[in-house]
Amino acid sequence: MRPSCRHPLRPRAPALPLLVFLAAAVAPLPAAAVGVNWGFAASHPLPAAQVVRDLLLPNSVPRVRLSAASPDALSALAGTRIAVTVGVPNELLRPLASSRKAAAAWVHDNVTRYASGVLFEFIAVGDDPFLLNHGQQFQPFVVRAAANIQRALDSAKLSSKMKVVVPCSSDAYQNTSTLPSKAYFRPDVNKTMVELLPFLANHSSPFMVELNPILSLQQKKNISLDYYLFQLMSRPISDGHNKYDNYFDASIDALVTALTKAGFNDMGIIVGRAGWPTDGVVNATSAIAQSFMTGLVNHLARKSGTPLRPKFVPTETYLYSLLDEDQHSISSGSYDRHYGIFTFDGQAKYHVNLGQGPMALKNALDVDYLPLKWCVVDNNKDLSNVSSSFSAACSNADCTALSSGGSCSGLGWPGNVSFAFNSYYQQHDQSEESCSFNGLGLITTVDPSVDNCLFALAIRASAATASFHPTFAVLWILVSVCIYSLV
Ligand SMILES: *[C@@H]1O[C@H](CO)[C@@H](O)[C@H](O)[C@H]1NC(C)=O
Ligand SMILES: *[C@@H]1O[C@H](CO)[C@@H](O)[C@H](O)[C@H]1NC(C)=O
Ligand SMILES: *[C@@H]1O[C@H](CO)[C@@H](O)[C@H](O)[C@H]1NC(C)=O
Ligand SMILES: *[C@@H]1O[C@H](CO)[C@@H](O)[C@H](O)[C@H]1NC(C)=O
Ligand SMILES: *[C@@H]1O[C@H](CO)[C@@H](O)[C@H](O)[C@H]1NC(C)=O
Ligand SMILES: *[C@@H]1O[C@H](CO)[C@@H](O)[C@H](O)[C@H]1NC(C)=O
Ligand SMILES: *[C@@H]1O[C@H](CO)[C@@H](O)[C@H](O)[C@H]1NC(C)=O
Ligand SMILES: *[C@@H]1O[C@H](CO)[C@@H](O)[C@H](O)[C@H]1NC(C)=O
Repeated sequence: MRPSCRHPLRPRAPALPLLVFLAAAVAPLPAAAVGVNWGFAASHPLPAAQVVRDLLLPNSVPRVRLSAASPDALSALAGTRIAVTVGVPNELLRPLASSRKAAAAWVHDNVTRYASGVLFEFIAVGDDPFLLNHGQQFQPFVVRAAANIQRALDSAKLSSKMKVVVPCSSDAYQNTSTLPSKAYFRPDVNKTMVELLPFLANHSSPFMVELNPILSLQQKKNISLDYYLFQLMSRPISDGHNKYDNYFDASIDALVTALTKAGFNDMGIIVGRAGWPTDGVVNATSAIAQSFMTGLVNHLARKSGTPLRPKFVPTETYLYSLLDEDQHSISSGSYDRHYGIFTFDGQAKYHVNLGQGPMALKNALDVDYLPLKWCVVDNNKDLSNVSSSFSAACSNADCTALSSGGSCSGLGWPGNVSFAFNSYYQQHDQSEESCSFNGLGLITTVDPSVDNCLFALAIRASAATASFHPTFAVLWILVSVCIYSLV
């Protein structure tokens, strides 16, 4: 254990047992359909077995969506009653689209092998392939990759147990106007949708949408935060006869509008992602994230539907996300690494009902941290050239907490250099060379954390967790296809 480990917001212990009892009687339970995203872009992840044992099971999480088919995660989920959605990373779309054999190998390695123990629910093909930032690079491959996976599931007699979906970011249909009735699929995704929607309909698969509310908040500056946090709005947004007092319902109805314009008005909808970050930008705090998550979970539990689908509740909604990921792409913003309901080391940042009811979330126990050592800048040295070391550290390590609005943005210079040095040092398992920085680094046993700005200690990398990283995916698929072709 790390004695000095501080977390900005520990889950609050309920004041009185009686209150807990009363709360249990009246608090809305989460819709059974709430799930959580679990991603693997972390340099020092908690071991998957520990995530399942300490976080998912004790907190009664009913379903998870894995960003990729991590063998450790799938093995740890086997034998539990947790429903599982597995993601196919964007890098795999091209090989899976161009070869039925590759799709069959993917299904064999990542689904069939675990199917007796894992409760698969969806295979999510692509990781937001339609995101505006990606341009059109994945669009030529995504539907064919999905069809090849579907075919491979059919051959493996697994298609009655799970469905193939394609996650689609809301920026594919909700771009210029906040009014749901004005939504339509972006012209550059139109051709792909013309193929995708019949494919989904043909297999009675739902449309999986990914929501990014903080990005919307940044883009639509005239809309109040209350709208995103399910708070009472004095002036709801009027769209013809319909009134919208929250972003979630408006996003769903915008999708309903886009689907209707495309001729698929009754297609089912599931929400693959909805979350709020806690660092890296203004308004990314644990308190606001808690409002968003609690508002969302309570909203779903009311099953009130939306103006366009009054009886409709998205059959499933996956909260984003379980844990912070220090290697996550930051193409949308620095906050992308700070979406965890739990910190990277499995400690709850705030309270939300994941299935455990009104009780505080259970945290990871006996986390295996590296020793109590940090790397800081040596103030006794001439620091006139330190900026190149600073940039070098940040280009590898995670400096997103230093961003404007982030938890360490107030450190100033050279405190922010120390933060960068330490991040690099922890990512390199506290090796002595990784704190050299041309002689400007200094190893200390005094925790340099200030207020809410945490200088983290990494988790000891275990052989089991180090073996999986999505970067190896493409290499792996080539090897696997070769082996599969031989048998
Ligand atoms: C809307 O889409 C266009 C291109 O289709 C893009 O240039 C613009 O940035 C988008 N606006 C927003 C707010 O996403
Ligand atoms: C729909 O399914 C049928 C039977 O499986 C198949 O022949 C047809 O090609 C499918 N169409 C699309 C658009 O996927
Ligand atoms: C926000 O501004 C946009 C564009 O200026 C406008 O279309 C929209 O109606 C405004 N929304 C609200 C809630 O005022
Ligand atoms: C694609 O664009 C055409 C012409 O604008 C439109 O009729 C059709 O509904 C669009 N399809 C989708 C899937 O948005
Ligand atoms: C969100 O950020 C803006 C800009 O810093 C600030 O004015 C506003 O008070 C913040 N809202 C909340 C609820 O913290
Ligand atoms: C800083 O870098 C310059 C150019 O590389 C070099 O001439 C100078 O000696 C360096 N100063 C220190 C204190 O290392
Ligand atoms: C580091 O701190 C200095 C002084 O406050 C500031 O000018 C600089 O922008 C900071 N750099 C980063 C990346 O936080
Ligand atoms: C199984 O999934 C993993 C993770 O995405 C990937 O690296 C691997 O290539 C997949 N197996 C096959 C045979 O494609």
